[in-house]
Amino acid sequence: MQVRLGRGNSGYLDQVNLSPEFVEALRIIVGGNNVLTEDLASYGTDWTGRFIGSPSLVVRPGSTSEVSQVMHLCSKHNIAVVPQGGNTGLVGGTLASEGQVIVSTRRLNSLGPVETASQQISVGAGATVEQVHEAADSHGLRYAVDFGARGSATIGGTIATNAGGINVLRFGSTRHQVVGIEAVLPNGEVIEHMAGLMKDNTGYDIASLLCGSEGTLGIVTAARLRLLPLHTSRTTVLLGCNSTDEVVHVVQGVRQQFDSLDAAELFYADGANLVAEAFNVVIPFVAPVYLLLEFSADVDLASDIERHLAQSNFAGLSAVAQDELGRTRLWRLREEHTAAISTHGVPHKFDVTVAVSDLPEFIEKTRQRISETNTDWTVFIFGHAADGNMHVNVLGPSATDELLDEVVLQVVAEFKGSISAEHGIGSAKKKWLSLSRSQNEIALMKAIKGAIDPQGMMNPNTLFAN
Ligand code: FAD
Ligand code: MLT
Ligand code: ZN
Repeated sequence: MQVRLGRGNSGYLDQVNLSPEFVEALRIIVGGNNVLTEDLASYGTDWTGRFIGSPSLVVRPGSTSEVSQVMHLCSKHNIAVVPQGGNTGLVGGTLASEGQVIVSTRRLNSLGPVETASQQISVGAGATVEQVHEAADSHGLRYAVDFGARGSATIGGTIATNAGGINVLRFGSTRHQVVGIEAVLPNGEVIEHMAGLMKDNTGYDIASLLCGSEGTLGIVTAARLRLLPLHTSRTTVLLGCNSTDEVVHVVQGVRQQFDSLDAAELFYADGANLVAEAFNVVIPFVAPVYLLLEFSADVDLASDIERHLAQSNFAGLSAVAQDELGRTRLWRLREEHTAAISTHGVPHKFDVTVAVSDLPEFIEKTRQRISETNTDWTVFIFGHAADGNMHVNVLGPSATDELLDEVVLQVVAEFKGSISAEHGIGSAKKKWLSLSRSQNEIALMKAIKGAIDPQGMMNPNTLFAN
């Protein structure tokens, strides 16, 4: 059973049936075939399948001006708007109730020229992460944000969730890549600040405010992104470790030794076996715990890495790849965790951060508390070791059973961690927001939302519980 959303809970939206005049006005703005009123399941269901919305309509504007007109119309008709990009979010962040409208940004997929002098690119919100990677790579540059959903996650969605991914430890999250923004506010006004000046201290940083706003303040329609030099040599190393303690120790040593470490991913034998079985991926060697490291530099680091591991008495097995195929094979073991787990059912997913030094104890306590709650549940833990960002995926509880969520998020609070590291709060975690943010902070966030979205029409089922 999934979590189904009923009537709009924003209080203020009580028209379940959208008026024919409203629908016709939308068609005039975006064109008839870009107003969808049936077969909306692919827009209404979240990627995990745990959250099912019931949007009354999906509208697909093709320009910033069309987004502005759509928002102005929705505001006039008191219709709630749920922005949606690639719908790869994992926290039920695009759940629309009956009477609410999903505004899909997929048609806003322009890609500006790669500006090698400024090392920047301007893109439409509907462009995918992968499209930006390809554009940058073709000019000897790279876009720093990268993760498994790169092929369908949109730039607008990654800004709205301040997406993290595998390279945060070296280059930061999406927020650190955005140097300009264009967005449409709930009343249809367009905010445009896309010059990409590297120094520009002229008041509040609107781009940064919209990063992580999860569609609750407005719709990002375009962004200007910083790009980085593309290093000539990439080395991917898979290490077999005996414990989480050993992983933390190795990561700390490697980070002190190499400033060229892009990624450090932790996963366990159970997850690796699941991926190997689900997608016929070869596991180079057996180990209880795996650490996947990736380095990029303009020199070949393989021998330096080998020397460092020897000098730090690392005694485990390892596999090294520097060619595209070999590196992809190693990365699949980690990146396919999400999909492999979903082949076994609808997981409860937790995306949490604790201090890196607390990881071993946090993981042990989390496993223990879950098994005390229900020994029938299957737990997979994996994630971004250097950030302290772990993904805890649990198969077994029903979609609506919140006991597990309470148990896991309470452990996070005991470790003074964050209940959402990179996926956002969405509708899935909003009940537990106060475990990570103070009442004063939540009140301030609501005051900001109230100032920008006085009608409460922007993504009302997300971020705040009431
Ligand atoms: P959607 O899912 O469409 O929307 C996400 C949220 O953003 C919603 O609240 C929506 O209302 C809002 N939104 C979308 N577009 C806009 C816009 N233009 N303006 C305003 N609000 C908007 N995430 C990570 O951070 N790190 C990972 O490592 C990672 N790995 C993943 C691996 C897999 C296999 C999958 C399926 C997902 C993964 N994700 C990861 C989660 C997801 O890809 C990110 O949250 C991504 O940012 C969502 O982008 P999207 O375009 O799909 O947004
Ligand atoms: C990942 O790092 O694989 C993602 O955040 C997805 C997940 O949590 O499943
Ligand atoms: Zn992740």
